[in-house]
Amino acid sequence: MKMRSKLLFGVFISTSILTMATNAADKEAANDLAMALQKDLGTVLMTAMMEDGPMAALHVCNLEAQDITANHDGDKAKVTRISHRNRNALNEVPEEFAEKYAELMDNYQASEGKAKAVDFISEGEQHISMRAIPTAQHCLACHGGNIEPELKAEIDRLYPNDEAVDFNLGEMRGAFLIEWQE
Ligand code: HEC
Repeated sequence: MKMRSKLLFGVFISTSILTMATNAADKEAANDLAMALQKDLGTVLMTAMMEDGPMAALHVCNLEAQDITANHDGDKAKVTRISHRNRNALNEVPEEFAEKYAELMDNYQASEGKAKAVDFISEGEQHISMRAIPTAQHCLACHGGNIEPELKAEIDRLYPNDEAVDFNLGEMRGAFLIEWQE
C-alpha cells in the first residue's frame, strides 16, 4: 500500500513537471507572438507617422490594425488587443476575463508599470496570458487628452463611440490577450 502511494506520488510529480515544462515553452511561444505583434504594429505606425504624419497614420491603423493582428495568430495560439477604454468595439475586454484584466491593471498601477503580465487557465481550459500595453509618449497624439482638433474630428468620424482618449503617459492603455490550448 505504502509502495503504491509512493509510486502514485512519483507519477504525479513527474507529470506535473512535464506539464510545467510544456507550459513554460508554450508561454514563451505565446509571449513571442505578442512581442512580434507589438513590433509590427509599432513599425507600421511609426513609418506612417514619420513619412506622412498622424492623419495618414490614423487611416493606416483604421484600415490595417485588425488584419495585422489577425495575421499574428500562431499554429496553436491566438493573439488580440483588448482595452477597458477601446476605440474599436472589436477590442473590448471579454466579459469572462474582466476580473483578471482588472487584476492586471491593479498590479500594473501598484508596481508603477513593472508588473505587466497575468497568466491563468480559463473556465474553458484555455491557457490565457495577458500582457499590459503601456502608453508611450507618441501614443498621446491619438490617445491623449490634447489631440490636435482636425485629427480628433477624424477619429470621431471613424469611431463615433471612441473611448480611447485622455490616457496619460505610462498609463496602461490595454493588453495583449493570448489564448492557447495544450
Ligand atoms: C495615428 C493615431 C494613433 C496612434 C499614434 C496610436 N494609435 Fe492606438 N489606435 C489607433 C486606432 C485608429 C485604433 C483602432 C484600430 C483598430 O484596432 O481597429 C487604435 C487602437 C489601439 C488599441 C486597441 C484597443 C482599442 O482601443 O481599440 C491599442 C491597445 C492601442 N491603440 C494602443 C496604442 C499605443 C500603445 C500607441 C503608442 C505606441 C498607439 N496606440 C498609438 C490610432 C492610433
